[in-house]
Amino acid sequence: MSTNLLLIPGDGVGPEILAQAELVLDELCNLTDLEVICEHADMGGAAYDKTGHSLPQSTVSLAKDCDAVLFGACGGPKWDSLPRANRPETALLRLRRELDLFANLRPAILFDCLASSSSLKDNIVAGLDILIIRELTGGIYFGEPRGVETLDSGKQRGVNTLVYHEDEITRIAHVAFKIARQRDNRVCSIDKANVLETTEFWRQVVTSVGETHYPDVELSHMLVDNAAMQLVREPKQFDVIVTTNMFGDILSDISAMLTGSIGMLPSASLDLNQKGLFEPVHGTAPDIAGQNKVNPLAMILSLAMLLRYTLKQDDLADSVEQAVERVIEKGIRTPDIYFEGALLVGTDQMGSEVVNELRNLLN
Ligand code: IPM
Ligand code: MG
Repeated sequence: MSTNLLLIPGDGVGPEILAQAELVLDELCNLTDLEVICEHADMGGAAYDKTGHSLPQSTVSLAKDCDAVLFGACGGPKWDSLPRANRPETALLRLRRELDLFANLRPAILFDCLASSSSLKDNIVAGLDILIIRELTGGIYFGEPRGVETLDSGKQRGVNTLVYHEDEITRIAHVAFKIARQRDNRVCSIDKANVLETTEFWRQVVTSVGETHYPDVELSHMLVDNAAMQLVREPKQFDVIVTTNMFGDILSDISAMLTGSIGMLPSASLDLNQKGLFEPVHGTAPDIAGQNKVNPLAMILSLAMLLRYTLKQDDLADSVEQAVERVIEKGIRTPDIYFEGALLVGTDQMGSEVVNELRNLLN
C-alpha cells in the first residue's frame, strides 16, 4: 500500500533542505518496497506571495488528507511587517492546530564525532540523548484573550493568556510516559508552579496521570528557570522532558545547541494517531538561503522520524539515521559543523553523501 506524503518547502533554506530529503526518500523507494506518492504545497511567505494567504485552504485540505507532512521552514524578514494574521509563523501555528498536532517531539542526540562542535565541554555532552516533548497546540500560544488594546485612559496594554485544560495536559503526559518506557523510563515535567497557577495545575495533572497509569516510570518535576540552568550544567541527567508550549519552545533551542548545531536536529509533531508533521528544529536561516550552505541533515533526520512514528518503519528509520552518522563520521561537513581538516561540502553534496551511504547500507 502506498503512503501519501505532502511536501511543503516553505521559505528561506526550506526548499534546499527539502530537496535533499526528497532525494533520500526517492532512494528509499528504489531500494526497498516503500511506496510513496508525494504532493507539494505552499505555506508561509512563499504562499503569501503567490496567493495572498500564508496558509491557503488547499494546503490545509491536502495536509488533512495525507498520511504525513514533511515541512522545511517558514518565515523571514520580508514578511515580518505583515499583519499578524498573514505572517508565515501564523500559518505554521494554524496548521498545527488544524491537524491537532499536540505532541511535539524534539530529540537532542549528540553524534559522538560532533562532541567538539558543542559549546560545552566534551565530557558534559558526550553520549547525550534527551527527548523534549513539548505541548504544541495549547498554552499561551493560543490562549484567549490576546492582543493589544487601548484602555479608557488612552494608554495601551498587551495581553496573552496562559490556559491549559485538564485534557490537554493529560494527553501530552500519556505521550511522555509511554515514550519514556521505551527509553530510560524517566520523565521530568517542567513548569513554573511556584508562580503560575496554570502550571501548578499542570504539575498536579501530570503527577496524577503518572501515579494512576505509569507507577513504573520515574517522575520528577523541575521549575523552568532551574531546568534552563541544568540543561547547560548537567544535561545528561534528563531522559524525557515534558513541558508546556512556550517553555518547550525555549528549552528545545537550548538543548539543540548542546548537540553542536541546530542544523542537526529533527522534530515530529504528532496527533493522537501519530499522524504528523515533520520538520527541522532550525528556522529559515535567511542569511544563507539559496547559497548551498545549509545543513540538510536535520531535514533528513526529520524524514527518519516520519518513517519511525507515522509509517512504523523502524528499520528504514534506523538506516537513514545510520547513513547520516556514517557521513559525519567520515568528516564530511557543512559550514555549521565544520572543523579544520574536515571536508567542507555544500547542501547538495551532503545530501548525495547520505544517499550513497544508504545505498551501501541497503544494497
Ligand atoms: C518553533 C518555532 C515556532 C514556535 C515559531 C516559528 C512560530 O520557534 O517551532 O520552535 O515558536 O513554535
Ligand atoms: Mg522555537
